[in-house]
Amino acid sequence: MTSHTSDSPFRTAVVPAAGLGTRFLPATKTVPKELLPVVDTPGIELIAEEATEAGAGRLAIITSERKVGVMAHFSEDAVLEGTLEDRGKDVLLHKVQRAPGLIEVVDVRQEEPLGLGHAVAQVEDVLGAEEEAVAVLLPDDLIMPFGILRQMSEVRREHGGSVLCAFEVDPDNVSSYGVFEVEDTSDATVKRVRGMVEKPAAEDAPSNLAAAGRYVLDRAVFDALRRIEPGAGGELQLTDAIDLLIGEGHPVHVVVHEGTRHDLGNPGGYIKACVDFALDNAAYGDDLRGWLTERLGS
Ligand code: UTP
Repeated sequence: MTSHTSDSPFRTAVVPAAGLGTRFLPATKTVPKELLPVVDTPGIELIAEEATEAGAGRLAIITSERKVGVMAHFSEDAVLEGTLEDRGKDVLLHKVQRAPGLIEVVDVRQEEPLGLGHAVAQVEDVLGAEEEAVAVLLPDDLIMPFGILRQMSEVRREHGGSVLCAFEVDPDNVSSYGVFEVEDTSDATVKRVRGMVEKPAAEDAPSNLAAAGRYVLDRAVFDALRRIEPGAGGELQLTDAIDLLIGEGHPVHVVVHEGTRHDLGNPGGYIKACVDFALDNAAYGDDLRGWLTERLGS
């Protein structure tokens, strides 16, 4: 198990996973969407791997009563491991042992799904006094290749404050996203954030930079979360707390991600992620490519 690397501005990586996952019903009636496999690996394990590579020392997973299976994925299973060992199934044994060995995991409960901001606020109680920032990784967003959080940490070191992640979208599609209003810095991939607009019409969009689910947040965000009012649906929005900080002069920057981003939170995005990962998989890639070519030709 790795431990927090001292060059990282955060020790705790927060993974909010207490949402209802309604876009994925009926599957999410009993299976948390974070456990749906991308090829054979639950999405949450890929997120844990990314946080570990970014230098986090522990993962704080926000769960609800309905989502206990998410934590179970990070527990050792002596019976299953013993059976695989007895049968000489070393590759499978290694796969099963991987998640529990990656990173320390703590369960933080959100009693009611009162929004992403409310979910993140629950983490404050488990932070050490010395933790001045946290990372937040939304498990719906698969951002490849890994490395964006390290770039974001670098930006916090240079500019202070909080750092978010953006990806470029086709200007015609901006209305599906939270869109940043930004000003340039001397680095083309780093912008200073002036504000955010939720799902703007194409003609009103301040940029084509959409928000992706990665954050390096200064601890000041917890104070801001206490000072905002619930928005639509009675939910406490994380973006409202960040907006409040921007208004008070707190530096907020975005790093523009140049790789791929998949949205695992809806069936359409999830299928693309599975196909993308499977095409690169040594066991399934060639067969899938052949089948897809044939299927598309017919
Ligand atoms: P979303 O609203 O996109 O996801 O929340 P959801 O609620 O799980 O799914 P849908 O919209 O019903 O299909 C973004 C992230 O915030 C977490 C979710 O688990 C997701 O990772 N979240 C949201 C919480 O942890 N608690 C909440 O109260 C709301």
